[in-house]
Amino acid sequence: MTRSSEGLSPQLHAYIVDHSTPVDSVLTDLVEETARLFPDHKGMQIGPEQGVFTTLLTRICGAREIVEVGTFTGYSSLCFARGLPDDGRLLALDISEEWTSVARRYWERAGVADKITLRIGPALESLRELPEEPRFDLAFLDADKEGYVDYWEELVPRVRPGGLILADNTLSHGRVVDTTNTSPAVQGIRDFNRRLVEDDRVTQVLLPLGDGLTLARKD
Ligand SMILES: C[S@@+](CC[C@H](N)C(=O)[O-])C[C@H]1O[C@@H](n2cnc3c(N)ncnc32)[C@H](O)[C@@H]1O
Repeated sequence: MTRSSEGLSPQLHAYIVDHSTPVDSVLTDLVEETARLFPDHKGMQIGPEQGVFTTLLTRICGAREIVEVGTFTGYSSLCFARGLPDDGRLLALDISEEWTSVARRYWERAGVADKITLRIGPALESLRELPEEPRFDLAFLDADKEGYVDYWEELVPRVRPGGLILADNTLSHGRVVDTTNTSPAVQGIRDFNRRLVEDDRVTQVLLPLGDGLTLARKD
């Protein structure tokens, strides 16, 4: 796994990061601590350029209510929360107490903890417990890839018209175009990408940012 943008040389990736708003010491420390505590999972965090992009996007669209599916140690949630206004809220969904306990510490340190509500449990159940009302301005999908289509079907009705849905890893490290790869995770992403093309409720683009970041607008 990598936290670089798919298909870019390390030099070009470094150049992009160096010419975007710098990553601060809170996020740098979070990356280092995650790598130290969970070396087998450190690649699960979104990349630095994706982090800046999500903060910017949150501000550009004026989001006040965000839902995140897949929080891990908190990198992406911290970036979204930083883009929210003071009274903005982010609902973070994850299944792991252990991983999100790190997130909680970094949300405190970054001064965004009061904007974030964490719900532990299978995210599909947590989403289905929410009223089917168009409440969210922005949704971020970054959990188990086999579940992406099901998450999508729960998210779309809960995002307001004009709201955005972002989904990470939609290139699956290039494996989406490797027809010999039939792993459930890769197939889950292919099914998701195809579902969006067929879904006339949204306009979307698959951006080659990080490991593929799909940006969809509910029309
Ligand atoms: C790729 S990581 C998320 C990375 C995070 N967005 C970041 O930038 O640091 C995927 C997360 O999804 C969570 N997850 C996996 N299956 C889940 C499920 N069924 N319900 C809720 N969370 C789940 C995992 O615990 C893990 O923290």
